[in-house]
Amino acid sequence: MIEKRNSERMKDEDVVNALSSETPEISDSDLESKPIPTIIDDLDIQDIPGIGPTTAKKLRDAGVLTVMDLAVTSSEELSVEINSSKESAAAFIIAAQQLLRDSNLLDKEFVTADVALEKRKSLLRCTTGSNALDKLLLGGIETQAITEFYGEFGSGKSQICHTLCVTASQPVENGGFGSGSIYIDTEGTFRPERVDQIAVSRGLDPTSVLKSIAVCKVYNSSHLELIIKDLGKYINDFKARLVIIDSIISLHRAEFAGRGTLADRQQRLNSMLHKIIRLAEIYNISVVITNQVQSSPDTFFGDPTKAAGGNVLGHASTYRIYLRKSGENRTAKMIDSPYHPYSDTKFTVTEKGVDDMEEETSSKRGKLKE
Ligand code: GTP
Ligand code: MG
Repeated sequence: MIEKRNSERMKDEDVVNALSSETPEISDSDLESKPIPTIIDDLDIQDIPGIGPTTAKKLRDAGVLTVMDLAVTSSEELSVEINSSKESAAAFIIAAQQLLRDSNLLDKEFVTADVALEKRKSLLRCTTGSNALDKLLLGGIETQAITEFYGEFGSGKSQICHTLCVTASQPVENGGFGSGSIYIDTEGTFRPERVDQIAVSRGLDPTSVLKSIAVCKVYNSSHLELIIKDLGKYINDFKARLVIIDSIISLHRAEFAGRGTLADRQQRLNSMLHKIIRLAEIYNISVVITNQVQSSPDTFFGDPTKAAGGNVLGHASTYRIYLRKSGENRTAKMIDSPYHPYSDTKFTVTEKGVDDMEEETSSKRGKLKE
């Protein structure tokens, strides 16, 4: 346990002043490669300079139990919950993030590009179950990123999610995360029997695979927002490195139907997605979301469908993959990525879940040992 540095509780304004007067310094040691953050929750909220017993109690009452919880909260949300100004809420959040940096649980604000490259190489990747799809993703789904699969009904979004739960449970050397996963099911389409079938077909122990998946059936948009709010705790509890949200938008889309409520819907989606981005980075987890398509009649050439959710969702996803059904097979196309080439590939869905098509399978076996 880190020793508490400041037992005297500072006033909110003092915290703001103290933090804003700090000039960021970059020392040589800061430039060294730091390990990516791991799931550690040893720090106490009162280890944060400026947070004494009273503020700590207020935070705990608001459901902010750990330094990690505080670091991933938004100032808007926190200021309402602890009944403080937005500035003091922001100061507490910044102080929490600073403590994580000081404890090497979070990366420094500035690193040189070579360190950033090293860090990218150390990201964990999990196989999708198909070599072709993994190739499109340059090695599988990544930690510290949100990967969005969107497409029409039956295009294979939920099948990818089911398969990923199975592959993620496998050891890193077999292409998995060696971790648990969290499956947030907003459409009631999670099928444990299907997970069982995929595990058995891949020669894995279905019981241990099923035990590694924590499923939450979500009933309305407020319920989803509540689950996301407490997601940090669940990630720790279930030792999850993969969080699936299938689908991210269906509930908000159904409940905020009219034009008049669109701004409200987008704002609520936005704050939820921002929390998810912070969770992915701070907990070093991989987030997979599925999304629906909407028709865009203004398209004259090409496919007249686009991802639902507008810019809010478009900006939140690190990678966007568009899925299309062509007969028994599926086409996956990389639509948006900071560094992937805009390519596409084909895969199929079999009893093994997501799988390579015949010719791919015979030329190269999947990464997962069978
Ligand atoms: P929506 O959620 O409705 O938008 O669709 P989705 O994109 O999630 O579709 P999903 O992933 O559920 O894909 C459904 C398709 O997967 C079915 O039409 C089947 O082609 C295939 N599929 C589902 N289960 C099985 C199975 O057990 N075996 C095989 N071989 N294929 C399956
Ligand atoms: Mg589905």
